[in-house]
Amino acid sequence: MSKLNVAVLFGGVSNEHEISLRSAANIIRFMPKDKYNIIPIGITKKGRWLFYPGDVSEIENGNWETNSDCTPAVIIPDPMYRGILKYNDGKFSIEKIDVVYPAVHGKNCEDGILQGVLEMSGIPYVGSSALASATCMDKVLTHLVLEREGIRMAKFCTLLRDDLDRLDSFCEEVEEKLGFPVCVKPACSGSSVGVNKASNAEELKSAVKTAFSHDDKALVEEYIVGRELEVAVMGNSPSDTFTTSVGEILSANEMYDYEAKYVNTESASAIPDDIHENGVSKEIKETALKAYKALGCKGLSRIDFFAAKNGVYLNEINTLPGFTNISMYPKLMDDAGIPASELIDRLIKLCLELHGEI
Ligand SMILES: Nc1ncnc2c1ncn2[C@@H]1O[C@H](COP(=O)(O)OP(=O)(O)O)[C@@H](O)[C@H]1O
Ligand SMILES: [Mg+2]
Repeated sequence: MSKLNVAVLFGGVSNEHEISLRSAANIIRFMPKDKYNIIPIGITKKGRWLFYPGDVSEIENGNWETNSDCTPAVIIPDPMYRGILKYNDGKFSIEKIDVVYPAVHGKNCEDGILQGVLEMSGIPYVGSSALASATCMDKVLTHLVLEREGIRMAKFCTLLRDDLDRLDSFCEEVEEKLGFPVCVKPACSGSSVGVNKASNAEELKSAVKTAFSHDDKALVEEYIVGRELEVAVMGNSPSDTFTTSVGEILSANEMYDYEAKYVNTESASAIPDDIHENGVSKEIKETALKAYKALGCKGLSRIDFFAAKNGVYLNEINTLPGFTNISMYPKLMDDAGIPASELIDRLIKLCLELHGEI
């Protein structure tokens, strides 16, 4: 069989741009070269699409953008072409693409915007549909869908930026409904950007304003004290979807904030044994599958939980989880006997299957 052309998209107009560079470098490194012909396309922070033919290390350190060999290359939305339009030496050319691997995270990338473009192009792409991606990116929508399914999440209140003039009464509502402390986040964000703990009304107001600097909708949740546990999920249809063992985040800070995630080397992760005893592990895996199905996720997701004294809470669903050297998704899959190269190969196959290509 001839090699498939896989466009790996990375970067993006997202506050997780840098994390994407680290994920993409690994995805390119581990993608089996005997099966796939890799076409790396970076999206700059300003939204320019560039074909990047250089070394993968330059993706990781962010220098790829200044490489003089970069040339414009965009996905063609017209499904007749199923490919990219390249511009080089004053000439346009079209290159056929068999699969798109979006190695991106966060806004404009993981939230259905990019998936919408890919959907139009008719090219199979790894991961969930535009609708499922958008619903999982919006933490308020995730709450609404999953609570209907009977899945326990933190109690919450939400405020739109348009309603900022009623911030005082909102704070009263939060105090009455949730009490303090609370966790405040932008409805749509990632990598803990804009997430803060608030222990009183004053801190709450300031945290809500911080959340509004990242999104138009703020989510305030009761503060859950518990272990942070995550599970990796892979599959398309409920009957062939599987979950890995449960992993644990050992955060260097009280909350697993941006610093604790990507800067502080004292943060760690583990695959603990003790959570099997009281049924926590089983509950997490079953809840993860239920949530994955309810939200219509396809291909892959990492689903995050808190295990508190009074039980398990689902925190969030990441439809394009990190693939960096310290990321939990590939680690859990590796532990399940699926090393990175096989994982990427299987994710591509799942996407081709979903689009009826195999
Ligand atoms: N309700 C909550 N109670 C306590 N801590 C929370 C709560 N929600 C989030 N956190 C902390 O903040 C971190 C980031 O929040 P999260 O909802 O996972 O957003 P992101 O999409 O940015 O990862 C979590 O990993 C956790 O440490
Ligand atoms: Mg998170």
